[in-house]
Formats: sequence, structure tokens, C-alpha cells
Amino acid sequence: MQTIDPENFSAIVFFTGAGMSAESGVPTYRGKGGIWGSYSIDEYACEKAFERDPEKVLGFHEKRRRLVLDCEPHEGHRVIAGMPGVRVVTQNIDGMHQRAGSPDVTELHGTLWRLRCDTCGFQKDDYGREYETLQCVCGSWLRPDITWFGDMLDAVVMNRASEVIASCDLFISIGTSGVVWPAAGFPALARDSGAYCIEINPEPSGVSDYDRVIEGNAGEVLPELFSIS
Ligand code: OAD
Ligand code: ZN
Repeated sequence: MQTIDPENFSAIVFFTGAGMSAESGVPTYRGKGGIWGSYSIDEYACEKAFERDPEKVLGFHEKRRRLVLDCEPHEGHRVIAGMPGVRVVTQNIDGMHQRAGSPDVTELHGTLWRLRCDTCGFQKDDYGREYETLQCVCGSWLRPDITWFGDMLDAVVMNRASEVIASCDLFISIGTSGVVWPAAGFPALARDSGAYCIEINPEPSGVSDYDRVIEGNAGEVLPELFSIS
């Protein structure tokens, strides 16, 4: 494989989706075995579902936390974490990049490991298998600090991601189907800003804007691409 020397670039961004965690054992959302094949978005992943039955929605997210805690970051996460100065912009909520040691991770869709109260604004980091508490001191239900369907993305997070991507010179997209907006617009933003753009995916997204498409799994391709053994 034609390798990449990170020294040739001044600002590298890894843009990741669920496929990045697939080899760790975390299911993706779409395709075979995908989460949305077994769980309906209307019942588990929107504000309305939470208003209707907060315990059911919290239970679903607690189950996902347990599953993720039973998984470990893989070699691909470690390759990224081992490259100084790179930035990660992820759609993932599983915290795998941070567990692998990546210091600069922008989480576009929030995280499984934080709860928030939409009544009083309280936020709480919570990393255990079970939630410490489901209720805020103000009496409202705490909700996972995750962008559900129909939610707006956090403007501060979105601006930071856009800035980081618009100013990179190497953009590597890994494991995303590229169908969920506004994140789906990031490869085009990188390209229009002049970055060299690579996609890594066993089933490439079909977006033709990439300079290079590498058909393969993140955990196998990343060490080869950066010739790390
Ligand atoms: P998807 O489930 O839509 O897509 C996963 C992608 O990963 C597919 O293109 C697969 O081909 C690819 N893939 C599978 N195994 C891989 C591997 N080992 N290495 C590399 N790629 C692999 O997941 P996302 O694109 O992340 O949002 O989904 C985007 C958003 O939709 C998620 O953040 C989530 C979801 O609904 C919210 O929940 C708000
Ligand atoms: Zn509150």
C-alpha cells in the first residue's frame, strides 16, 4: 500500500463514524446487524420518545454503555492516538478515541458518558455501567447528552468542527455511511478547503469527492497506511 508520511502535512483530521468502532465490537447503525435494524428511532432516539417514556430510553442507552464498556479500542484507534497533533472529529458517542488516548476529539453527536437536564441546564459526567442517578436535583429526568434525531447540533461544537476541518490539509474519513447531516457535508468542506481527502471503508460511501478511496477495515488499513507495525 502507498503509505502516508504525516510529516508532509501540517494539519491532519480524522473524521470517524460507527465503522471506526466496528472491529472493537460496537455495532454500526445501518447495514447488517445495525442498531436501527433492531431498535426503532421513534422509540429510542428522539426527544419525543424520551418525553413519552424516559426510563425506556435511558434503559436503552444504559445497555449501549454496558456493551461499549465490554469492548476495547483497536489498533486503528491506537494508530490515530499515537500521532501527535492530529485532530479527531467523530460522530461516535462511544468515547473509544479518548479511551485509546486521543487528546483532541470533537464529538459531534455528544456522548454516552454525560447526562444533562434540559430544565435547569445541569450536566453530569457519568462513566459507569449503570447510571448513578436518573433524576436531576431539580426533579426533572436527566437525559443522555446525545444528539437524537430531530435535535439541533450544539452550535459551539459544530463551529469548532467546521473550523478544524476547513483548516486541515489531510482529511481522512473512516467508517461513515455519510448520510446523516450536517456531518455528511464535512468531506466536501475539507475538499473545498484544499485538503487531500482519503476515505477508508470496506464499503465506500460512493461520494466521489475523495482523492483516494481505500477499501478495507479501519483496524487493518490504518497501521498499513502509516506504516506502523
Ligand atoms: P453507519 O452505521 O451509517 O455507517 C457505518 C459505516 O461504517 C458504513 O459505511 C460501513 O461500510 C462502515 N464500516 C463497517 N465496518 C467498518 C470497518 N471495520 N472499518 C471501516 N468502516 C467500516 O454509521 P455512521 O455513518 O457513523 O447518529 O452514522 C451516522 C450517524 O447516524 C450516527 O452518528 C448516529 C446514526 O444515527 C445519531 O445517533 C445522531
Ligand atoms: Zn435540572
